[in-house]
Amino acid sequence: MKKFESIHDVDVLSTWLAQAKEIKQDPYKWDTLGKNKTLLMIFFNSSLRTRLSTQKAALNLGMHVMVLDVNQGAWKLETEVGVVMDGDKPEHLLEAIPVMGAYCDIIAVRSFASLSSKTEDYSEKILHQFIQYAGKPVISMEAATLHPLQSFADMITVEQYKKTARPKVVLTWAPHPKALPQAVANSFAQWSVAMDYDVVITHPVGYELSEEFTAGARVTNNQEEAFKDADFIYAKNWSAFNDSHYGEVLSTDRSWCVDAPKMALTNAAYFMHCLPVRRNMIVSDEVIDSLKSLVIEEAANRVVSAQTVLLNMLK
Ligand code: CP
Repeated sequence: MKKFESIHDVDVLSTWLAQAKEIKQDPYKWDTLGKNKTLLMIFFNSSLRTRLSTQKAALNLGMHVMVLDVNQGAWKLETEVGVVMDGDKPEHLLEAIPVMGAYCDIIAVRSFASLSSKTEDYSEKILHQFIQYAGKPVISMEAATLHPLQSFADMITVEQYKKTARPKVVLTWAPHPKALPQAVANSFAQWSVAMDYDVVITHPVGYELSEEFTAGARVTNNQEEAFKDADFIYAKNWSAFNDSHYGEVLSTDRSWCVDAPKMALTNAAYFMHCLPVRRNMIVSDEVIDSLKSLVIEEAANRVVSAQTVLLNMLK
């Protein structure tokens, strides 16, 4: 397995879910598989869960781990090909990537969307340069358009808690003061459709996501209608995807916050969010602190998700 950037890199999803279950029951079952292998984790952006859970996953498999924060202590990296490097960036990714590849066996990369160029973001310029030039398997720890480690953890969590074979899973936009990428929402849609859940996406007008990822889901601008009979509510903010407003905040309408009256419309649904979350913007204290909130379990399942990916790469 040479890369993990989306669900398309998973050979048989049911096998991966079975492996995840096995890992959850016995995290140290394959604790020598990664002996003398090194994972290098490269961060262009901040992280709490991805940083810790992916390291823990590698340690559980007996791997060594190195972490590089590109913007703290490393040379500033040029990402444009063909430019005259007379600015403040002394090293090009074209050298830096194979050099980093020479020091490890697997590379994991976090590189968010710029939100300034849709073409650049949706071409996954940085992640694809790593895949092309690293000479080692590459794992996305959230790229411009997708966050597969998060989505796989989300699917593991839904499978753990679902009470029916085909639960109704609702992805709802919720307000946020800053412009955020569409990666988590795109990825959640892509994976939950692939799981054959009954997927509904709800958002205000203008927040339509790429159909590349949402095909197979029903979409409505009526949040309350979407919540009816839902088994899982997955909240997330994202900025606009459409060409004329790409990366913009079009609404901060607080009425989209997930609160107790809305949760009362559901089929006693569980609440999910990838974290970090803005309390009382995205979700009310009452909902996130309730017994129906799965946010901590989801975060814990990030170790299981990353360990399953590493297991398949090492094998
Ligand atoms: N959910 C998630 O990826 O969290 P971090 O940004 O803290 O890694």
